[in-house]
Amino acid sequence: MFHNIPQAIKERMAYLESLDKQDRLAGKSPLERLRQVPPETGKFLALLAASAPEGTYLEIGTSGGYSAMWLSLACKELGRKLITFEVLEEKANLARETFKITGLENVVELVFGDAKKYLQNCKNVAFCFLDAEKEEYLDCYEKVVPNLVSGGILVADNVISHKEVLEPMLERALKDVRVDALIVPIGRGELVCRKI
Ligand SMILES: C[S@@+](CC[C@H](N)C(=O)[O-])C[C@H]1O[C@@H](n2cnc3c(N)ncnc32)[C@H](O)[C@@H]1O
Repeated sequence: MFHNIPQAIKERMAYLESLDKQDRLAGKSPLERLRQVPPETGKFLALLAASAPEGTYLEIGTSGGYSAMWLSLACKELGRKLITFEVLEEKANLARETFKITGLENVVELVFGDAKKYLQNCKNVAFCFLDAEKEEYLDCYEKVVPNLVSGGILVADNVISHKEVLEPMLERALKDVRVDALIVPIGRGELVCRKI
């Protein structure tokens, strides 16, 4: 997966990494910035996604499509598709451009809108990456977990960097008997849940 990343994906990843860095240095507000995962988290996500059972692959919070490109590496290898949700028009447009120039339009389906409206209807979920606004995590978690297949994986970002605001969701997940869950100290902290 990591040894033969297509050149167009490598170039787009590098472009989005530099855009994110510039925006941070310029002090742009969180809503304006891409807020994408660091590369090591991207690799971790791809490894987990490549180990997930058959079923629907979801991402909640596309931004410019950076983490979706990492997930696409697993999807391409397994012949699966990713559905990714983005609520902001400007970000959705940037992500559309990402998927077009990297040739991922047949691998990644971008849904423009609030993921919470769609999640209950997304059945047989094999993998879900949750990376939306922190206040929405618990609601998204409750909507996704019932639809996870046995062995299905849900990963949530920022659980160490935003530990306090995410405490109710973390408490719920770590005590939830439907899943085995662990916080992994990689990047900004990933909660990994596997449906029993
Ligand atoms: C942290 S960024 C995602 C970064 C992206 N996963 C990456 O690593 O490249 C969060 C994104 O989620 C979007 N978002 C927040 N709440 C959402 C929701 N309920 N449905 C869809 N998108 C949402 C935001 O507009 C923002 O672009």
